[in-house]
Amino acid sequence: MINQETIQRILDATHIEEVVGDFVSLKRRGANYIACCPFHDEKTPSFNVNPARGIFKCFGCGKGGDAVRFLMELDHLSYPDALRYLAKKYNITIQEEELSDEQKERKNERDSLFHCSEFAQKYFADLLYNNEMGSAIGLSYFHQRGMTDEIIQKFGLGYCLDEWDNFTTHARANGYSDTVLEKTGLTIFKEDGKSYDRFRGRVMFPIYTISGRVQGFSGRILTNDKTKAKYVNSPESDIYLKKNSLYGIYQAKSSIVKADKCYLVEGNVDVVSMHQSGVTNTVASCGTSLTEQQARMIARFSKNVTVVYDGDAAGIKATLRAVNILLEEGMHVRMVLFPDGDDPDSFAQKHGSTALQEYLRDHEENFVLYKTRLLLDEVKRDPIRKAQALTEIVQTIALVPDMLERTEYVRLCASLLNMPEPTIQTELAKALANRSRKQYEQQHPNETGTVAKTATPTTTTPTSETSSMVVDPQGNIKAAPNTLGAPDPNELPPLPEHPSAVPQQPRVEPFSPTLHPDDTQERKIIDLLLNQGHMVMDCTMTDDEGNTKTEQFFVEAVIVNELLGDHIAFDDPRYQTIFNDFAQMVTSGQLVDASSYINHNDDAIRELATSLMLGERQISPQWEKKHVVTPKPEQRLSQDVLYAIRTLKLRRLDHKIQTNGRQFQLTTNPDDQMLLVQEKMHLVRMRQKLCEQLNCIVN
Ligand code: CTP
Ligand code: MN
Repeated sequence: MINQETIQRILDATHIEEVVGDFVSLKRRGANYIACCPFHDEKTPSFNVNPARGIFKCFGCGKGGDAVRFLMELDHLSYPDALRYLAKKYNITIQEEELSDEQKERKNERDSLFHCSEFAQKYFADLLYNNEMGSAIGLSYFHQRGMTDEIIQKFGLGYCLDEWDNFTTHARANGYSDTVLEKTGLTIFKEDGKSYDRFRGRVMFPIYTISGRVQGFSGRILTNDKTKAKYVNSPESDIYLKKNSLYGIYQAKSSIVKADKCYLVEGNVDVVSMHQSGVTNTVASCGTSLTEQQARMIARFSKNVTVVYDGDAAGIKATLRAVNILLEEGMHVRMVLFPDGDDPDSFAQKHGSTALQEYLRDHEENFVLYKTRLLLDEVKRDPIRKAQALTEIVQTIALVPDMLERTEYVRLCASLLNMPEPTIQTELAKALANRSRKQYEQQHPNETGTVAKTATPTTTTPTSETSSMVVDPQGNIKAAPNTLGAPDPNELPPLPEHPSAVPQQPRVEPFSPTLHPDDTQERKIIDLLLNQGHMVMDCTMTDDEGNTKTEQFFVEAVIVNELLGDHIAFDDPRYQTIFNDFAQMVTSGQLVDASSYINHNDDAIRELATSLMLGERQISPQWEKKHVVTPKPEQRLSQDVLYAIRTLKLRRLDHKIQTNGRQFQLTTNPDDQMLLVQEKMHLVRMRQKLCEQLNCIVN
């Protein structure tokens, strides 16, 4: 228990932007900072940090709070542990209060495992420098492998003496119980009551949690004894789960954020070697093949991963497996293979740090390119394999959650295989349908396969196209609830089979605002950018507990974020040019000088801009029509902007729905039809959500 006074001192010392900045890269935006949200998947930043108020808020997923809450959410820390983290960061000594016996016991369980592991780590590390055998054997082993003292200390490496129970005896003398020694796995207890050190005679690689606590060890044997395991790892415990830990993550995390990229290697020694060679954004999955939890842990720091595995057959197989897991988590994956027989460590030993860095830079390859080439090689030897190879590649592409990215891969793959794009697209559609059916069957194991075929898949729907903000009747923005109204059955093309499988939910009466031709919607957005882009608009946000907060944002930032987020393009190239300028400036944190358009060298743009900028400021038609009491200017602006954004989005959705209908008429393949139906349902739901949002603004 930390006493109240200490808590206050910690909170006073804390600067939220410094805390958040250790995990995500922040860009300044006026008085705030913005970033891509570390809590959900997004491409355009909707995560805001307000240093003055000491709070963060994501408009995408709704998460928000102070620095302590941020750490609790991100690192899954308890409240006191988050405070301890901050105390450590800001050099504040913690005054702990006495715990009740019960509290002590509960907290002590995990804590004592951590304490014991940390005690062991210090002991093993100390032996390298302060014990004759430790130096002669352990330290000289590390030195012989080319590791510097600096890197040995950075990773807390150590040595466990080659005696039966040297460590266990020492730990007992320091008050660590047999229970704790057994649970951490540091000591092995035999049935006859004898006990001995698990890691005796091994060099020690401590495994750290994200926040730097020792949770386990990996011990390497020093001999070439093939009858013994080269590496022995701590058994799983309350504090160490293999699937959740990444070797090197604590030492690498800030570099991963800075480089916006993570190298994933196979071995502990490879991590250490890469760091020593200056590639400090490197981690390894501890003695397991990569798990989805590990992939997610990396994704919190960067979406870009380069898999660096051995070039032998086992390495290639492991690479392909890891790549699939990374892709499913929505990461951008590249790979580097080392020449047969080399791993990053042996390569660095042979050729040096610079050569290693150059090799990584020059041999990094997009995974689709890599996989296609690999399979093409096989195909050359066996032409019958071509169709099969295509299926394999397409199955990998089908794992990518983002629709646009998949399209890119199809293009790439078509040119490599020298095949028409539509052929590959058809294959992909099949793979996607297959995947969603399998997924559905996994989630609903008791239902029959036929029903599953018409069910809404979870992964083939395009990534969020409407932002997850909702405006309530007071003009407050809040995170959208997940309960969407059901699609209007009349709007859907006939389902191929079992229409009853479509979940029926209570219908919400659709609202249809009067839409002007496209040009009007597009023009209004550009008008707002040019004339009111630098103004601030009120955004009132409601958090999970129902508390509302109002914050100000630049109009241009809101427009750019909303439209980029939904990939909305303008039909009129003049509008697009102006929007692009704003998007570029806004995303790099700068302000556009709108008056420069008055002297623009493109005649068409100059004319447009001047007519918009010199035109009379209109009051949006909905104000006149509804005879509403005109609200405060900031609120009115906010509602104007949101109305403009949403009507444009609505028109785009209507176009997509029409296109979908035409495609459906032309399609005969049932798999393709099913995909189109699914797409249509998704679009209709989005339309309905948008209409509800618009309804809130105009009423
Ligand atoms: N590993 C393991 N248990 C083993 C062998 C390997 O847990 N018996 C894990 C370790 O995390 C190791 C990784 O797999 O770091 C890669 O193993 P390997 O390629 O055999 O070793 P290297 O990393 O090359 O180790 P070294 O260079 O020390 O030989
Ligand atoms: Mn090696």
